Amino acid sequence: FVCPAGARAAPGGGSLRLSSGRAARGDINKPVIDRILRVDHAGEFGANRIYAGQMAVLGRSSVGPLIQQMWNQEKDHLKKFNELMVAYRVRPTVLLPFWNVAGFVLGAGSALLGKKGAMACTVAVEESISEHYNNQIRTLIEEDPEKYKELLQVIKQFRDDEQEHHDIGLEHDAEAAPAYSVLKTAIQLGCKVAIFLSERI
Ligand SMILES: [Fe+2]
Ligand SMILES: [Fe+2]
Repeated sequence: FVCPAGARAAPGGGSLRLSSGRAARGDINKPVIDRILRVDHAGEFGANRIYAGQMAVLGRSSVGPLIQQMWNQEKDHLKKFNELMVAYRVRPTVLLPFWNVAGFVLGAGSALLGKKGAMACTVAVEESISEHYNNQIRTLIEEDPEKYKELLQVIKQFRDDEQEHHDIGLEHDAEAAPAYSVLKTAIQLGCKVAIFLSERI
């Protein structure tokens, strides 16, 4: 089914400068796209806060530049979802102020366990996010791969970036972090809850 809200968007040329402006006016499955963009925006926002928290603790350590490099990619991801939210007229989750704090606390807290703790956090989060993006890719392909071509391209690219962050974490001894498997399980449970909530409110 198709919600007419998508077709109502953007009288005049206000959003034409966005490449996604055109797609936003097509016959999109608005509830599905709303959910996807809201949760992805929340996730990238949270990722930025995690890396900010890690940098606050480990910024001047040997892994500082590496964390900064991953953070920079998260900034690009967030910027893209900000643009897509405008183009598709999706409101952000009401939980942003909470993710703001929770993300930073998770980042700083894991970094306080040391470099390996920070990397364990990265592995746990990025594995969850890659899986989450893969689920969305499947959903969009089932919906209509042609219609959601641009969105699919974005999500696939970001999925690859997150996969890379995950691998960087593993290469930097994430698995040697204290209580690695407990930590990973706890963080991934948190990610599941965050995804569930951010898709809905
Ligand atoms: Fe990201
Ligand atoms: Fe990432």
